[in-house]
Amino acid sequence: MLLKQKSKLNKPELIKPELIARILAFCDGEDDEIAIMATVAGELYHAVDNFDWVGFYRVVGPDLMKIGPYQGRHGCLVIPFARGVCGAAARDKKIMVIDDVKDFDGHIACSDSTQSELVIPCFGKDGELLGVLDIDSDQPAFFTKKDADDLDQLMRKLFMDDTN
Ligand code: SME
Repeated sequence: MLLKQKSKLNKPELIKPELIARILAFCDGEDDEIAIMATVAGELYHAVDNFDWVGFYRVVGPDLMKIGPYQGRHGCLVIPFARGVCGAAARDKKIMVIDDVKDFDGHIACSDSTQSELVIPCFGKDGELLGVLDIDSDQPAFFTKKDADDLDQLMRKLFMDDTN
């Protein structure tokens, strides 16, 4: 575990300012959540090497999510809050940075090549939980806290910020 943390210390930031600016520009003035999610999934997936699955799970009912726009291999269609990394992020409204998915009890393996995962809860203008942004990598310990914070800020600008 310590080795994984040390290996992250010198990792370059994944979410470059120009990528953030591009996504914000594409979504400028848009308030349709699906359109924003589709744009985010496509841009992040194609801009960052080793983002091997990028997509959203949307809250569709009490403690229940269904898949939204995504890029990558097949993603499971339904995730209750009781299951998986995504369910934990939604249930606890907490960012999940998972260095090794095999260490996460109850991880849902949509692909057996996934090694690390980042899940960020997304909130609407009234603070309601819209769903989660889920990113899988086939690389171990791929995501840093900086990556999580950068993406969390981007999600807040896109879904919560009236000025968007
Ligand atoms: N791994 C996620 C499920 C979604 S697939 O990765 C796209 C989880 O454990 O919730």
